[in-house]
Amino acid sequence: MRGSQDVVGRTALVTGAGGGIGAALVVRLLEAGATVVATARGPRPARLAGIPDELRGRLDTRVADMRDLAALAPLVAAVERDHGSLDVLVPAAGLGPVHGLDVPLDVWQETLTVNLTAPWLLAQAALPGMTARGFGRILFVSSIAAYTGGKIGPHYAASKAALHGLTHAIASRTVADGVTANAIAPALIGGTDMVAAIPDVTLPPVGRFGRLDEVTSLAMAMLTNAYLTGQVVLLDGGIRPD
Ligand SMILES: NC(=O)c1ccc[n+]([C@@H]2O[C@H](COP(=O)([O-])OP(=O)(O)OC[C@H]3O[C@@H](n4cnc5c(N)ncnc54)[C@H](OP(=O)(O)O)[C@@H]3O)[C@@H](O)[C@H]2O)c1
Repeated sequence: MRGSQDVVGRTALVTGAGGGIGAALVVRLLEAGATVVATARGPRPARLAGIPDELRGRLDTRVADMRDLAALAPLVAAVERDHGSLDVLVPAAGLGPVHGLDVPLDVWQETLTVNLTAPWLLAQAALPGMTARGFGRILFVSSIAAYTGGKIGPHYAASKAALHGLTHAIASRTVADGVTANAIAPALIGGTDMVAAIPDVTLPPVGRFGRLDEVTSLAMAMLTNAYLTGQVVLLDGGIRPD
């Protein structure tokens, strides 16, 4: 029997499922008993290729580009129609091309669109169903850059910091309806394309990059705790100890 806080039998939507963190979380949610709608920009994300058959039956892979903002509310509606509900939302798709203070306006706007506006529109579309059913989990994927500025640039840091305000705004309005909203803020996670693309990267104080299983174990703890809401949890190997 499902406990009130676990994800067995719940339906999750994970974007960026072709990426390191998104794919790892898809697998972890499947292992935990959820049905997972995983979106990627291409039809057959390589990182999901090895999922065993016994889990694959609960995996629904769809193509979605987060820049197509008009398609996001229909995506949520389609998940609710096809699976009966959308209970867990993790908008993990994100981009971070490296730029200095001269970041071009088109890069700024694309970064804000994918990293901030798309997660917001997905949450906005998912929240009515979540509150009506009395259960929902939203987990935004922020970054250490929201605190330190980071290595990628002002566009990326600003997009991630804005997710914190969004987390608080949603959490304060939904906690009485069984819906939590939190953000996980990792730093320098190995096995991701994003870290591989950062030039001259230095290791965090712990002496190594973070592991994908360290991200997913924290994410699952946050997704399965009904008393945790409105929080941003850093996972940074000691970069920002205060
Ligand atoms: N890696 C880290 O150390 C770290 C630290 C802090 C936060 N994060 C955040 O973690 C999240 C996952 O990133 P990752 O670390 O797993 O890096 P990743 O391997 O580069 O994955 C990023 C994913 O986002 C997708 N994406 C980019 N633009 C998109 C768009 N327009 N529409 C749909 N999907 C799009 C990419 O799709 P394609 O495969 O099609 O390009 C890719 O699957 C991101 O939000 C990132 O900002 C990562």
